Amino acid sequence: MSQTLSTRRNETAEWWRSAVVYQVYPRSFADSNGDGVGDVNGIRSKLPYLAALGIDAVWISPWYPSPMKDAGYDVSDYRDIEPIFGTLAEADAMVAEAHALGIKVIIDIVPNHTSDQHVLFQQALAAGPGSPERERFIFKPGRGPLGDEPPTDWQSAFGGTAWSRTTNPDGTPGDWYLRLFTPEQPDVNWEHPDIRAEFEQTLRFWFDRGVDGFRIDVAHGLVKDQSFPDEDGMPFPLPLGTAEEVNHPHWDQPRVHEIYRAWRKVADEYTPTRAFCGEIWVGRSDRLAAYLRPDELHTAFNFDFLMTPWLAAPMKAVIDETINSHAAVGAPPTWVLGNHDLCRPVSRYARPQELVQPLDRFLSHYLPHPADFASGLRRARAAALMMFGLPGGAYVYQGEELGLPEAEAIPFAALQDPLVVQSGGENLGRDGCRVPLPWTSAGETYGFSPEGAEQPWLPQPTAWADLAADTQDGQQGSTLEFYREALRVRGQRAELGDGAMTWITTPDDVLAYTRGEHFQCWVNFGDAPISLPEGEILVASGELTAAGLLPRDTTVWLAV
Ligand code: NOJ
Repeated sequence: MSQTLSTRRNETAEWWRSAVVYQVYPRSFADSNGDGVGDVNGIRSKLPYLAALGIDAVWISPWYPSPMKDAGYDVSDYRDIEPIFGTLAEADAMVAEAHALGIKVIIDIVPNHTSDQHVLFQQALAAGPGSPERERFIFKPGRGPLGDEPPTDWQSAFGGTAWSRTTNPDGTPGDWYLRLFTPEQPDVNWEHPDIRAEFEQTLRFWFDRGVDGFRIDVAHGLVKDQSFPDEDGMPFPLPLGTAEEVNHPHWDQPRVHEIYRAWRKVADEYTPTRAFCGEIWVGRSDRLAAYLRPDELHTAFNFDFLMTPWLAAPMKAVIDETINSHAAVGAPPTWVLGNHDLCRPVSRYARPQELVQPLDRFLSHYLPHPADFASGLRRARAAALMMFGLPGGAYVYQGEELGLPEAEAIPFAALQDPLVVQSGGENLGRDGCRVPLPWTSAGETYGFSPEGAEQPWLPQPTAWADLAADTQDGQQGSTLEFYREALRVRGQRAELGDGAMTWITTPDDVLAYTRGEHFQCWVNFGDAPISLPEGEILVASGELTAAGLLPRDTTVWLAV
């Protein structure tokens, strides 16, 4: 029955309005060939696991050829597969096998920047200053009498200036190029028709191979103010109340929307239409919703929800704000608790929630607050059940279904994230959520790699044996079985997914909502257990008290 309804939903043209999308971070998901890095055949081997989990789609972080200066977000060829990960034929087979199991496939496109090893950037460097090849990127002379100061004061998202200086063929210092992330990730020039054509061709390349959609990296960053003004300390996100005509010089520029209107036309050429999900950090629901107008992107990550502490009032406010802003443009909300850039929810929620506001998305797990990981796990499970019941779609980052915490004790020398180096070691980066998954409690790499393989590319914490998928499989009350149950029931209930919800009036520390006439979700954020209305418990994120009360940090779904 569950299979029937979720398959039906997944087969509709608007599957993306309700989908639960599972993020696969290929380096860390499953290693089939023993080189210590996950790969496409590893993903293929786990497709039955994903189907049994009950997800509707996978999103695969970049799998393209890459020098891996930013773990694959530095792409040197958008139309092939990185040899460490496998081959194009294996990727085609993966897509076909996923489809056969009723799973849609979303891949990741990185349109703000390429790798410095991309042929277009190599051509630009070789062709020299003033050449048409350089027009495809953002080259500028430096400031100051010697041109040795960056062209603007723009800052890299990873720290330091956002410009790198070139060397001329005669060895003298040359122009600078913009790179909002690492020096090896030059920003492309979206004013150039070749760039627009190049990326549209890439979309078609993968759509023609059967891929169902794209997650768009840094979707709000592509267009730059062509007068290249200094930032001059302008805050971003722009605070509410900022005049309409004020824009940050390189984030969320209004003309970025033109690009997505053109991409939507490409997606709509296909049957069923292909779908986009934007990674859009604009910090304001009105500016986010603008990307989701009917002729632009289908969905966007809801980072406001992810950043909200585990407290009833802010959670209620962010849910309302999300639903209202998305309804204004007819887009489905989405809900997300983690990804490969952010502290895992178990560890985020383990800290005192009043103290870590506003949550720093990179650093919250390194803040010097005491951590209570048992509470963190209870809250992460309660948050997951709360979000799976909300209108729209949801994301699960690999390992959330195992209740993995952030790996907080990776030795400094083993860290790989460029953010660590670029921030001068001030920021310990994102490796803690990227550690290879534990599949089995036994074995040197907990089943991530075959026995006798190379060491995994990041070390795994020893405590993970208890969290391994095979330890949790079939174990009543385990996080894995809880996720399976929640997604099974979500697939069965026609009132879940896209649609409306209504709040039930509750005490301050409790949130409760209805979906349709017969479904209720109750979440207790407070210390005191609360009584529940009459009804059948469909799923609970934790045990109820002996008296049948809903204890703190617990969510239930009720059929009433
Ligand atoms: C966002 C990606 O999620 C992150 O991993 C990457 O470092 C930056 N964009 C740059 O591509």
